[in-house]
Amino acid sequence: MGTRHRVQLTVNGERRSGDTAGRTSLADFLRDTLGLTGTHLGCEHGVCGACTVLLDGSPVRSCILLAAQADGHDVRTIEGVSPPGGPLSPVQEAFCETHAMQCGFCTSGMVLASEALLATTPHPDDAEIDEALGGNICRCTGYVQIREAVRVAAARTADDERVVVRD
Ligand code: FES
Ligand code: FES
Repeated sequence: MGTRHRVQLTVNGERRSGDTAGRTSLADFLRDTLGLTGTHLGCEHGVCGACTVLLDGSPVRSCILLAAQADGHDVRTIEGVSPPGGPLSPVQEAFCETHAMQCGFCTSGMVLASEALLATTPHPDDAEIDEALGGNICRCTGYVQIREAVRVAAARTADDERVVVRD
């Protein structure tokens, strides 16, 4: 057995720690050591974006980041986007309302990438939405409803008012 590394990080606002092998990915650490299985694994090669989490507020692919590289950093997963039992975040709510998910496999990564976009760009245009989510693959929706969800969330967050969702 190889050398084990103690990893300490902040996950969804809580200090968490665990021992890992040097090659353990952040995704495996989150899922297997911390039990945060909302982070999904698709390609495991940094291509699909299903494993997206926020590292110090920026989206990263947790399948190609070592847990040891996240030592001392702040990580947000889908479990930390809204409090247990709700309410949902504006982005999550908009994904539900606009039918921006079908099987849901890509959704946690999509939501986190959208949260990161709106944190830095509160009024994104379609090109900015496409750029921010372009690395996240969805096999179900065709992306139109996902883009709509980000638009709705942006409008709601910016104006703090309900907006009408198109059928
Ligand atoms: S599982 Fe990480 S990018 Fe696909
Ligand atoms: S909703 Fe199925 S992969 Fe996106």
